[in-house]
Formats: sequence, structure tokens, C-alpha cells
Amino acid sequence: MPVGSIPVGITGTGICLPERVLTNQELEKMVDTSDEWVKTRTGIGERRIIDETMTTSDLAVKAGEMALENAGLTPDAVDLIVVATVTPDMYFPSTACLVQEKIGAIKAAAFDVSAGCTGFVYALAVASQFVQTGMYQTVLVIGAEALSRVIDWGDRNTCVLFGDGAGAVVLRPVDQGFGILSLELGSDGSGGELLKLSAAGSLCCGIPGTSGKESRAGYAEYLQMAGSEVFKFAVRIMGECAANAVLKAGMTNGDINLFIPHQANIRIIKAAAKRLRLPDEKVYVNVAKYGNTSSASIPVALHEALLEGKIKKGDNIALVGFGAGLTWGAGVIRWAV
Ligand code: UT7
Repeated sequence: MPVGSIPVGITGTGICLPERVLTNQELEKMVDTSDEWVKTRTGIGERRIIDETMTTSDLAVKAGEMALENAGLTPDAVDLIVVATVTPDMYFPSTACLVQEKIGAIKAAAFDVSAGCTGFVYALAVASQFVQTGMYQTVLVIGAEALSRVIDWGDRNTCVLFGDGAGAVVLRPVDQGFGILSLELGSDGSGGELLKLSAAGSLCCGIPGTSGKESRAGYAEYLQMAGSEVFKFAVRIMGECAANAVLKAGMTNGDINLFIPHQANIRIIKAAAKRLRLPDEKVYVNVAKYGNTSSASIPVALHEALLEGKIKKGDNIALVGFGAGLTWGAGVIRWAV
């Protein structure tokens, strides 16, 4: 953290997971897969899926309201809302603006951040600057996704992996020596083709003289992924990026009390933990219950780790994510409350 800046930490967390559980057994009836394959290759047992009445902003609102309540704040205290998502309700207005209206955050500015599954770490990095500089006191950061809406439910390569959900945190000034101690972000656009949704942008739409259908021909309206390429990238970058964040915080891996990685695949998480020489009990994993919820996965895991009593004041928490872009990001936080 820059010398002289205001320390910023997380003072409340919240989550929202849809009630509907979609099991591997149900997926066996939809595509040529098996519970055994999904569990051994990914660690995923089930995932949550929104019903037809819900959207990303609905999940974000519930997670955000819970985070504010846990921080002892009301929506009128919020200065800024930042939502990380790759599945916004619509192109514009931003999902953050929809949340601002729905929760009644009357004085808040609002915008979205798009950085794939690294979205939450990017949003945390962006949002924390406003508190560090003293421009704002209270920022609500939300990772929210309705990935079920952009999945090809006939594609076994992707439909077994993802789930819906939202996680939120409240950022506020904290005591000296606590809060966000380091952040590390990166990107490599040359890997953009590996994980994408290409049919919803200026690349293909609205070309004069063509119908919408014609201009979208050849572009996919659902998520596409080169799984094994992303896997190799993830295994390399998770450990590397987290190690850099730990170093930047002036620590060694042994100083980390809990490692909260993006929950995409148990094999990726285990490989990263091995690289960081962290024992299993210091690594938080809930991928079995929710699958990959993209931007929501880290804040959901953080909230659940707190509920389970795995984080206490003064603990050093390392967060790390990777995703579409390609992007990656990590941070070390000394828990302040
Ligand atoms: O948050 C960032 C987003 N993405 C990720 O984190 C995903 C990263 N990648 C992964 O997690 C893994 O690469 C996967 C779980 C997607 C796949 O695991 P893998 O060990 O890399 O398997 P693979 O892609 O090498 O595929 C092995 C086989 C293939 O069959 P053939 O070609 O060897 O006959 C696939 O067709 O497994 C097949 N396969 C399946 N079989 C049963 C792929 N999906 C399934 C499935 N059920 N659902």
C-alpha cells in the first residue's frame, strides 16, 4: 500500500446463492457425462441456478444488503457501488446502477468492472483506491453472476462447470497495519480466444444492411472455453500471482493464515496450494457446492470462511483469481474486524 494512504479493509460480507440446486445426477440426464467424471476432474458435486424470474442484479442486491447489515450500515451510507460481472442484466445501464436503485443507495456512484473470473479482485483493487485516497468512506464491492444464462446446456465441456451466485464486501477505512496490504493484477489479451462470449458485442452486431441474425452468424451466444488451455494457464498463474502478492506484502507464505482461491476446479486449487507450500487446512474450498461462480466465487468463499470461524482479527488472508481476458489478480489482507 502506498505510504501515507488511508488503510482500507473489509468490514462486512454477504452472499446470495439461488435456492435451486442442480446436481451432477441431473446433468447426467442432459448431456453425456457422469457424476464420477465431474467430481474427479473438477471437484464439483452440485451448483446453484437462478429461476426464470431472477437476474444478476437480484443476486447482487441480496448479497450487498447482507454485507451492509453485517457491517452495521444502511444503504444511504454507501458512497460507491462497484459490481464485477461478466453476466450483467443488460449491456447498459450497468448492473451497479440497477443495484444502486434497488437497495436505495441514494448518494452512491456506481459502475461495473469486467475482468472475467478475476472480476472481484480487480473490483476490490479499483474500489479500494477511493477509500485509500480519502475520496470515499464506504464502498460496496459485489461479484455477481448468472452464468446459467450464457451456458450452452448441450455442451458437456462447459455446462457441468459453472453456477450462479453473488458475494459482496463493504470497504471502509481501518486501523493502521490492517486491511489490504498488497494487490497484484495482470492480463494477457493474447489468450482472449480461450474463454469468451463473442456474439453480444460490436464485433458482430448492428452492421448496416444486415439483420441481427446475419451479423451474429459465426459468433457464439454462449460461453466458449478451451478448457485444458485455461487449466494450464491457471495452474501456472495462481501460484505465481499469489506468491507475488505475498512478497509485496512483505511476508512469506508461512505468514498466510488462510488462502482463498477462485473456485474453478479442485485440481487447480490443489496445484496452486502445492506451489505455495500451503497445507490443506490453510486453503478454503467450497467448489463442490457451487461450481465456478466466476466473479462471485472469492467473496462467497470469504463469507463462508468467516461464518465457519476460519478468519479472526489479525489473520493474513490471501485471495487469488484468474479468468477470461486472460486476467489474474491476488491480494493480501490483514483482517481488521
Ligand atoms: O474460471 C476460469 C474458467 N475456467 C476454468 O477454470 C476451467 C479450467 N479447465 C478445467 O477445469 C479442465 O480443463 C476441465 C474440467 C474443463 C476439463 O478437464 P481436463 O482434465 O482438462 O479434460 P480434457 O479437456 O482434457 O478432456 C478429457 C476428455 C475429453 O474426451 P476425449 O477427447 O479425451 O475423448 C472430453 O471430451 O473428457 C471429455 N469431457 C467430458 N467427459 C464427460 C469433457 N467434458 C466432459 C464431461 N463429462 N462433462
